[in-house]
Amino acid sequence: MMLFRHALSRRDAFLILLGASSMHIWSLLFRQVPSEQSIVINTHLMHDQPGTDQAALKAAVPPPPQAYSATFTNTITTTTTRTVTRDLIPTTVPAVLSSDTRVSIDVSRELPHTSIVAHAPGWTLFRNLYMSNGTLFVVTDDISQFPEIRMMTSTGLAAVNTPENIAAREPTKENMDFLTPEQAQTRWGGDVKKGEKNRVWSIEGNTLLFNDPSQFLRHYYHFVAELFFGVQAFWHGAFSKPTSSPSDTYALVHPSPPPVTRAIFTHSNADGWRDGPGFNAYFLRGAFPSLTVEMQEDWDDRIATTRIGTRDRAWHFPLVLLTDRSAAHRGTVCGSQTQRTAAEAWSYMKDHQQLQGMHVGGWWEPVRSAIWRFSGSQLPMLSAASVVSSPNQELMDVGVEAQKSLGMPEKVVVTYISRQGVARRKLIAEDHAVLVAGLKDMADRRGWELNVLQAEKMTKDEQVQAAAKTTILLGVHGNGLTHLVWMPPTRASTVIEMFYPEGFAHDYQWTTRALGMSHFAVWNDTHRTYPNKPEVNYPEGFQGNEIPVYAPTIIQLIEDRVDGKI
Ligand SMILES: *[C@@H]1O[C@H](CO)[C@@H](O)[C@H](O)[C@H]1NC(C)=O
Ligand SMILES: *[C@@H]1O[C@H](CO)[C@@H](O)[C@H](O)[C@H]1NC(C)=O
Repeated sequence: MMLFRHALSRRDAFLILLGASSMHIWSLLFRQVPSEQSIVINTHLMHDQPGTDQAALKAAVPPPPQAYSATFTNTITTTTTRTVTRDLIPTTVPAVLSSDTRVSIDVSRELPHTSIVAHAPGWTLFRNLYMSNGTLFVVTDDISQFPEIRMMTSTGLAAVNTPENIAAREPTKENMDFLTPEQAQTRWGGDVKKGEKNRVWSIEGNTLLFNDPSQFLRHYYHFVAELFFGVQAFWHGAFSKPTSSPSDTYALVHPSPPPVTRAIFTHSNADGWRDGPGFNAYFLRGAFPSLTVEMQEDWDDRIATTRIGTRDRAWHFPLVLLTDRSAAHRGTVCGSQTQRTAAEAWSYMKDHQQLQGMHVGGWWEPVRSAIWRFSGSQLPMLSAASVVSSPNQELMDVGVEAQKSLGMPEKVVVTYISRQGVARRKLIAEDHAVLVAGLKDMADRRGWELNVLQAEKMTKDEQVQAAAKTTILLGVHGNGLTHLVWMPPTRASTVIEMFYPEGFAHDYQWTTRALGMSHFAVWNDTHRTYPNKPEVNYPEGFQGNEIPVYAPTIIQLIEDRVDGKI
């Protein structure tokens, strides 16, 4: 859709060289001497500087399942010299590993060690994580390679803001623990040489492991625009090569990350992740049609099957993203700056320059376009960005300067999501009427399309279709604004959020900017935008039905945005 023609910058050329040379270095570093013993494949991937070299990046991409089973195959003895790079797939698969003799973890002589592909507070992508009796186990002989457990997980209890509850959410050894390889062997290993099996079973494929209770899962905003928004940023970023080249930071099209096989909601039953209007199920099935969903009951089954008399069994996750809301709140970006768990995932990848297409939500694009297609939306026509080939620092952040490089929409569409038909958080009735009249007048005058919507009266497909063509999304603070994640990125793409004067929350503000679009908070006849955004505040009247808005302020703001004046 968006293509760039520009010469390879010096920096690009340098990065390519760097990548190539580091791959060479890695292959030297990991060259193995002939050994009587089993092939030891390094499973400690990328814990130094995730994704800073091409080889590590390559290693981060899971090989296809069959080749993957070879990764923990160390029963093969070899007398030939093998070059083992930081790649999980042996370059040549030994003859004993022909397709019908896969050696799986239950007969592997050594259980593969746990490693971390990427970690931000509340978001941890592991290779070779284990679960037994409900406890997640990291198997390692080097604990120093791992973050503090409290930055990865919690007890998974619902959150309230009391000291007792905060303490009760601190993880214990029952939630997550470390084992040395010897301890793991003692606990779950069998004497494979004598024909015994390890009591370890792989849950093959790639897993999303959600430790959160239903408290925040059953809301469209928190589920889609926070949880899965963070998942997509983190998953996409973990498998993207670091880049600051404009053709990457503005690209909608880039290599897909590996697919996700399943999602496990360990602390939520089937109702717990479904919202009232049914948007979460629509989203999950529409964006990830092949995803297997397991709930608390399924997790409990897995826990129960690990208890076998006096001996334990363990489940093994080859690749798993563990997400925990309380742990994310222990991070600075979420805990003290944005209150958005997704912000930890997004910022980590952005800071590591692994958020490809960050100016156009390119990392989110696979999900966005899947939902566009699912809803039957007309796929938005996006005009190419005009990008300078040497980005300055300002362009390396999301913001208005970077957004100016994008094309204008073919047609300006203004969408006002009205809350006047719902129970609370409404505009003063007269202000709403004056606003609608003013918007109509503006649209007529400028030849724009105006849609005044009451989401609760529309089908889900219709709501997504409306968002997919929206240039300016207007509404009172509330769930309807979640649809901003389906807006196409253009130079004028803007969310205008009306608050009771002095009120503010980061929910839609942070999310809008994370997709490279602009956000304005309106208090009656004034507006504020980044970096001059307000502080979080819920004044009396925030939830009420007497929110004032001065229509001329909104009209002027919309016209100025489209005209590129602000
Ligand atoms: C299994 O977990 C339960 C708590 O969930 C605990 O009481 C019990 O001691 C654990 N068993 C073992 C063998 O660790
Ligand atoms: C909203 O702004 C208008 C225009 O400045 C002003 O006349 C009106 O009093 C304001 N309303 C409130 C509730 O502050």
